[in-house]
Amino acid sequence: MAELLKHDVVIVGGGAAGLRAAIAVAERNPNLSVAVVSKIYPMRSHTVSAEGGAAAVIKANDSFEHHIYDTISGADWLADQDAVELFVHEAPKELTLLEHWGCPWSRDPDGTVAVRPFGGMKIERTWFAADKTGFHMLHTLYQTALRYVELTWYDEWFATKLLVDGDRCYGVVALELRTGAIRGITGKAVILCTGGAGRVFPFTTNAITKTGDGMALALRAGVPLKDMEFIQYHPTGLPGTGILITEAARGEGGIMVNKDGYRYLQDYGLGKPLDVNDPRHPVKRTMELGPRDKLSQAFVMEMRKGRTLKGPYGDYVLLDIRHLGEKKINEKLPFVRELARNYAGIDPVYEPIPVRPVVHYVMGGVDTDVDGRTVLDGLYAAGECACVSINGANRLGSNSLTECLVFGARAGHHAAEYVASAPDPNDSVLQKQVEEEAARIRKQFLEKTEGKERLVTVRKDMQNAMEDGVGIYRTEQSVQQALEKVLECRERFKEVYLDDHTVSFNTELISALELECMLDVALAMCHAALARRESRGAHQREDHPNRDDENFLKHSLVVLRDGQPKVEWKDVVITKWPPGERKYGADSGLPTDQK
Ligand code: FUM
Repeated sequence: MAELLKHDVVIVGGGAAGLRAAIAVAERNPNLSVAVVSKIYPMRSHTVSAEGGAAAVIKANDSFEHHIYDTISGADWLADQDAVELFVHEAPKELTLLEHWGCPWSRDPDGTVAVRPFGGMKIERTWFAADKTGFHMLHTLYQTALRYVELTWYDEWFATKLLVDGDRCYGVVALELRTGAIRGITGKAVILCTGGAGRVFPFTTNAITKTGDGMALALRAGVPLKDMEFIQYHPTGLPGTGILITEAARGEGGIMVNKDGYRYLQDYGLGKPLDVNDPRHPVKRTMELGPRDKLSQAFVMEMRKGRTLKGPYGDYVLLDIRHLGEKKINEKLPFVRELARNYAGIDPVYEPIPVRPVVHYVMGGVDTDVDGRTVLDGLYAAGECACVSINGANRLGSNSLTECLVFGARAGHHAAEYVASAPDPNDSVLQKQVEEEAARIRKQFLEKTEGKERLVTVRKDMQNAMEDGVGIYRTEQSVQQALEKVLECRERFKEVYLDDHTVSFNTELISALELECMLDVALAMCHAALARRESRGAHQREDHPNRDDENFLKHSLVVLRDGQPKVEWKDVVITKWPPGERKYGADSGLPTDQK
């Protein structure tokens, strides 16, 4: 019989959400045993590469009301307003807690925590640690988590399947990279914190590890994925690599120009240019600090008008921070300078940085409530792999790190309560599932010596189909074509054979399991994008160019019924903020002195 590694709570993922959830479980009930299962060492989680900062109200010129409104309007009214309210109220407590655990937030000269402006926010509220915020947050969380002896670390274990008995989730099947052993890691609650799925696309800021694993596991277990059509393009990625040039560069005053040196964003309803040397920091709420969906769409329009530059990696525009001066760049944006020098071969102190939109974030994910609960008892999700939803059709920059903390903690607390009264699992049922999954992996990948397809070809074909069909602008026809290609790739995947048949550190096998997840996630994205016949936030359907609140002020849910994806709908929670027009720049509705 397969060996079961038994715990009370199993957390999958060792990034910000996973670590925060682990700490929350340990604090809520020190008698619980917690497994932290991560396919990479926690300190290599993608959180480490987050740059610009984390949002929370702290300064006197700001208010909870402003943060709530920015989030809801930025989301094009598709966020659940009860969740947003709760998030905004808990955000400052979580970031302060991190301060107490040692996170070195950058300070103002008077010693208080400094904040910077960020996209789509009318008041600056983004806490930061220079432009290496994720690095410092992850260190802080990891060091704090290491204090808890209740945590057992399964580093470099890849979870391939959820263990489900009846209508409850009881753990995961996981493959240990070092030995190739496939085991059941059981608990009465599982919290998925596996991050996003940017690697479904060819050009992304996301690490190669962000392959939608948790989303796919949930989908296969019958749990719906919500709002998967909403893919966020960040407007400033480095051509070629897709490496992020943080929005903080614009928050600190950077401007964007097209091939004629013209600040083209003034043509797209995002406000007018002000003097960049204005001591009131004039660019902070207009144009370059519009929301990401609108900036990325403006790039496509400029490209269509022939006003972008041409380079070896396609069209691009320029992000200019030269006027900030070397001292400020070194102090506030050292990583931007380092990245531009190393990966674009230019020094932004003297030259503008070439940039273009790049896939950055999936607004959708595993459908949860505000405690991280899913429709499957015992299964929770938090962070980018979840959709609570506070991000709706377009996430505001710097809300996501905070989201990992607020909802990671809530999921951890709730799971700790839940396991106290949940029934024990039936071990023999779980053992059978572990054996079946181990046999499947052996048969499909390790013992198969022949096949027509290579992993990399199938992956590239899927990625290109998604970029072509489900990119910044889509139509019914383009999404349909992408869907057909994804379905074809899923068939071809069955014919994939691996060169490596060994068990120890078989990274080719891991890539195959990741691609299997991405194909499921891509399928969900296509189905949701086809079903939403309107344009909202990051989902721009050129054949349905307007927002349609009457028919589509709803969350899409992709769920497998008899193995087939179906799209269902769920009401958006509207409490105090009725749907309205998104306004930026001079029309933003703030008092004149705050514009
Ligand atoms: O531009 C950035 O630093 C990204 C931040 C975010 O996605 O929240």
